[in-house]
Amino acid sequence: MTCTRFVIASIAVGFGTIIALSAAPTIAAEELEAKAVVRGGDDGGTISRHLYGQFAEHLGRCIYDGIWVGEESKIPNTRGMRTDVIEALRAINIPNLRWPGGCFADDYHWRDGIGPPDQRPKRVNMHWGQVTDTNAFGTHEFLDLCELIGAEPYIAGNVGSGTPEEMRDWIEYMTYDGDSEMANLRRANGRQKPWKIKYFGVGNENWGCGGEMTPEFYSDLFRQFSTFCRSYSGNELVRVACGPGGFNRNWSRVVMDRAANRMQALSLHFYTVYPNWNNKTPATGFGEREWFEMLRECLRMNDTINETVAEMDRVDSRNRIELYVDEWGSWYRVEEGHPGYGLYQQNSLRDAVLAGLTFHIFHDQNRRVKMANIAQTVNVLQAMILTQGEQMLLTPTYHVFEMYKVHHDATRLPVQLITPDYQFRRRSMPALSVSASRGEDDVVNVSIVNAHASEAVQLNCELQGVEAASVSGRILTSDALDAHNTFDAPDQCFVMFAPEAQ
Ligand code: AHR
Repeated sequence: MTCTRFVIASIAVGFGTIIALSAAPTIAAEELEAKAVVRGGDDGGTISRHLYGQFAEHLGRCIYDGIWVGEESKIPNTRGMRTDVIEALRAINIPNLRWPGGCFADDYHWRDGIGPPDQRPKRVNMHWGQVTDTNAFGTHEFLDLCELIGAEPYIAGNVGSGTPEEMRDWIEYMTYDGDSEMANLRRANGRQKPWKIKYFGVGNENWGCGGEMTPEFYSDLFRQFSTFCRSYSGNELVRVACGPGGFNRNWSRVVMDRAANRMQALSLHFYTVYPNWNNKTPATGFGEREWFEMLRECLRMNDTINETVAEMDRVDSRNRIELYVDEWGSWYRVEEGHPGYGLYQQNSLRDAVLAGLTFHIFHDQNRRVKMANIAQTVNVLQAMILTQGEQMLLTPTYHVFEMYKVHHDATRLPVQLITPDYQFRRRSMPALSVSASRGEDDVVNVSIVNAHASEAVQLNCELQGVEAASVSGRILTSDALDAHNTFDAPDQCFVMFAPEAQ
């Protein structure tokens, strides 16, 4: 099996005998060599499908333009939401969608977004450019979107500028089936039956945009607010506490010490930025140095998870509390010609590789990490979809989500990997990353990421305990490090189908 440049391959193995698969379009003269042993008979735990969750915030053109265009728009829409975007999202089986923020969540008052649209108040989006939010997209529209794309809602509640009463009422409005003011208000607004809302975030980044709180203060607020986050009418809430942003062990320690008994999950945010927050590298037009550094940096996701999990293990030895990496992805300089607050960036093959590497980390961390949400779905940061007026394109990252559907809720198969290093100047990272799982259909899927910018890697992959009859593969690759799809050329970064081998 040869993995040439920038390859993500997903290989489905059926019953019978496996022979070999050349997953690469070209074979380099001098190849690096790697060996992987997939322990096909072992149970490495379930890879939760919720690791493939997404995040959509009232930020830039994510909600407005990217998803919501309104029923009067000439862009084809379903009850105001772009039909092309809905169809593209349905195709990747998004398990859950987080909304309305982000930083926006701690400034959002849900009553603004219900009732007749022309009577909804206009508000200033204080975090993202002080633009006017018409509130045309509110609770009913978001939950309608979730139903249209088949995703479970994950709602982020307002701790920073809200009250426990406001949070309690929102949950009652959405989930109570009986006779109450909130439930009746929901009915008056057109929804008879309550929705099922499992995931509820109690604040967002409350150490920063969510209120600049100390962990001690937030822990007390979490205890207070979460008390009023009630499970109504058979709806079972998962209360998600705000965790650290990257490496902040003190935050995790204090929140776990003071509030672990009230939470079902803790969040973690980690973005890949290079060289630093004040000077971000562009999304395209880069060289090997930026390719290498971004990919090496994204691997630090594993360290930050380990640090957070260590604090969780200290307090929760029974592994009851789940860890949700509910914001992650690449964060580049905003594209020229686009407003800085909109966080609009292109998406290249580098982002596809970054996504593949990150998913493999999540798979390996599946003891605690049960959910993750890439930031963000459309037109913001590491997006799956970009839109421009009536046009829409799928990014390389979208294709990774599509290819990796095979891992949803599959059983992880441990992999022993010996890989050469990818060295750049005097720094190095592993050239290959491999992850494997067995689906309910008993098909084994192996995903392989070659992070090396220029070298092919010959991979000898032993499938222990697997009787394979046929192999097929798919490859995401292109000729340039920054290959990306544009509205004029939407298929530069493509998925190749390898022929089935017997
Ligand atoms: O995803 C963009 C922003 O990044 C979110 O609003 C915030 O939570 C994080 O800092």
